[in-house]
Amino acid sequence: MTQDELKKAVGQAAVDYIRPHLEDDSIVGVGTGSTANCFIDALAQYKHLFDGAVASSETSAQRLRDHGIPVYDLNAVDGMDFYIDGADEINEHLEMIKGGGAALTREKIVAAVAREFVCVADESKLVERMGTFPLPVEVIPMARSFVARELVKLGGDPVYREGVVTDNGGHILDVHNLSIASAMELESKINQITGVITNGLFALRPANVLLLGTQDGVRTIK
Ligand code: 5RP
Repeated sequence: MTQDELKKAVGQAAVDYIRPHLEDDSIVGVGTGSTANCFIDALAQYKHLFDGAVASSETSAQRLRDHGIPVYDLNAVDGMDFYIDGADEINEHLEMIKGGGAALTREKIVAAVAREFVCVADESKLVERMGTFPLPVEVIPMARSFVARELVKLGGDPVYREGVVTDNGGHILDVHNLSIASAMELESKINQITGVITNGLFALRPANVLLLGTQDGVRTIK
């Protein structure tokens, strides 16, 4: 199976996972990226079974609307059972690096609201130790250089993702060569730097379940 086929398989598996729980008033939390897109496309066939979705990016919101799925502002919903999203890296504790698509802040917000975070990923994303994928950090634009200097003090090599402005008006620094011994500790530490909006470590709120696309089928890891 190609990587694209694995992504489609986990997108469908995520729909199968949540479908028994969908009710008329259900709101589904939807992430961002090529794997999340596979989930959206698979979800569309069941749009009559639930109320609508909250999206972690304008891009995903548009894709949902194109399928005829109503998209709600997060402030308009009380909560949701599931948030389904991909990851750039995920470890055995279901801690993740996310933000390759620059949607990390909204992803973290929607994930915080959801009762269960279902991560969908192909097997290339499962790692023993995170940090090969550069850690995205979203910053207030005027703080970019200051935050970059502080990240160097933490041992990282930040690179400005030129030309990218997030849905929140933020800029992205991709931090290479970080040694991530404790993801929870590093997540908190980076978020304490003035000017940081958030960073792409999802360790304080990890995934609850991973649907991993492998050559032997979709594995469920909890
Ligand atoms: C976007 C993300 C994505 O979930 C992550 O980049 C994985 O994307 P893909 O499914 O395309 O590999 O965090 O900000």
